[in-house]
Amino acid sequence: MPAPGQDADATLVLHLRRARSRARAAALAEICSVLREEGAKPAPGGPLSEVKGITWATLPESSVSALRATSLRLGYSERVDLVRGAESVAEARATVRWKGRDVVLLPIYDEPDAELRPFDPDRRPFLLECGDGVVRRITGYRGGGGPLERRALPVVDARLLVNLVASRRRGKLLDPFAGAGGILVEARAAGWTTLSVDIDPALRFGLAELAEEHVVGDTRELSFETKTIDAVATEPPYHPSARDAVLAAVPEISRVLRPGGRAAMLLHPDQAPSVRTAAEASGLLGELDVAIDRKGTPVVCLSWVCAGG
Ligand SMILES: C[S@@+](CC[C@H](N)C(=O)[O-])C[C@H]1O[C@@H](n2cnc3c(N)ncnc32)[C@H](O)[C@@H]1O
Repeated sequence: MPAPGQDADATLVLHLRRARSRARAAALAEICSVLREEGAKPAPGGPLSEVKGITWATLPESSVSALRATSLRLGYSERVDLVRGAESVAEARATVRWKGRDVVLLPIYDEPDAELRPFDPDRRPFLLECGDGVVRRITGYRGGGGPLERRALPVVDARLLVNLVASRRRGKLLDPFAGAGGILVEARAAGWTTLSVDIDPALRFGLAELAEEHVVGDTRELSFETKTIDAVATEPPYHPSARDAVLAAVPEISRVLRPGGRAAMLLHPDQAPSVRTAAEASGLLGELDVAIDRKGTPVVCLSWVCAGG
């Protein structure tokens, strides 16, 4: 229950990472997804509106204690503050003015970019079958020269996708275009049991280390049973030659997802219209549809919940 004079909803201030400082809608969708069960929602405004790269969410005061116990791993926000009335905070802290009163910003999450660096694709080791057939542990593997071999998604984007399919019950999360496994690394760290598919056999050793089950296969025909996967997060190849495979993957993703399970994809903007249509036809209900400027690389992030949940 809110104390007398206290709002029924608590406000959260999100400080976006510099590299994604304009991706407010995605950052908000991310935290609202992670705190879905706590009732988090986008808020129209809050403190620090004069500062670049800030946005706001609310959640019921009754969820604040659950929030403090939640360990966040956010991609697009580097810090999240809980807004409290200055009079309700015992220790002396800097205040800011908001809605005509002094408030205090209590950090509930703070993970600067520097702390993500060890997980960046250019620092991570990956077990790869090299051209001479020898399997080597390569540091900084980012894919080959072919149009379908560009791999190594930035950590912040991998986290975004994993967070968009969050659910309190962590079951099996599948990446059906797994590449160098960036999404699997984040999914595992978030507590999921990871499954992966990639058509390139050279990746099988590295992905077998990152997934409980790895399949060398084609996402157009997944080998998993119907309705057995709890979540899908993936980044298919952006090259136009992958168009048919990406489109054919959508009904397969819908087939293997359990009702109520979620899927999220990062796509080239040219892929988005046909993927939207295919998803709708496959019983996936759209949740997020935003354009993101990844420092000069435009992408579209789509997410869905599987009908019938
Ligand atoms: C953009 S990469 C994924 C990058 C990954 N998110 C990462 O962090 O490294 C796309 C992957 O899809 C794989 N791929 C392409 N066509 C496929 C298909 N039909 N079925 C399964 N995998 C496919 C490629 O081999 C490539 O590794």
